[in-house]
Amino acid sequence: MSDILAIYPGSFDPITNGHFDLIQRSSRIFDHLIVALLTNAEKQPLFSVEERVEMLQDVTRDMKNVTVDTFSGLLVDYAVKKNARAIVRGIRAFSDYEYEIQMALTNRKLQPKLETLFLMPAEEYAYVSSRLVKEIARHGGSVKDLVPPMVEERLRRKIVSMIDEV
Ligand code: PNS
Repeated sequence: MSDILAIYPGSFDPITNGHFDLIQRSSRIFDHLIVALLTNAEKQPLFSVEERVEMLQDVTRDMKNVTVDTFSGLLVDYAVKKNARAIVRGIRAFSDYEYEIQMALTNRKLQPKLETLFLMPAEEYAYVSSRLVKEIARHGGSVKDLVPPMVEERLRRKIVSMIDEV
């Protein structure tokens, strides 16, 4: 049987410990995992695409079967191009479920052969989101246990540089 490639897509603005936990779990299940960063998202990101790719590469550098890539346009088109068999998404609280099932079923409609698999992060990360991490950092709170140390430092520098600009 051929190797199974999965794609873990997202905005990763920035990567959190919850994302990292899912990358680790997925890398143990699949032969190869591509962490794929959407570059043309509608929402205004805090970190540039280059910064987010750097952070993803930094935290996955010791994981031999994980690569980081970017994509634009439809996820299913990217997945077909890469010959992927599955899309991985994380489910934290029930509140994620509605959006995620909508996305998974839409992707299945567009590309029936591609499966979406939902994984749960470790329970200590069940409430962690990039949005909350950014909010905490903006108000000077500690995000120490929520993101990798290098991301914590980058967030601190980013907030300082934004304050300097004002
Ligand atoms: O981390 P996010 O922002 O929840 O990730 C959302 C993402 C990137 C997985 C999703 O927005 C996506 O796949 N966008 C690409 C466009 C697309 O394929 N849209 C149709 C899926 S419903």
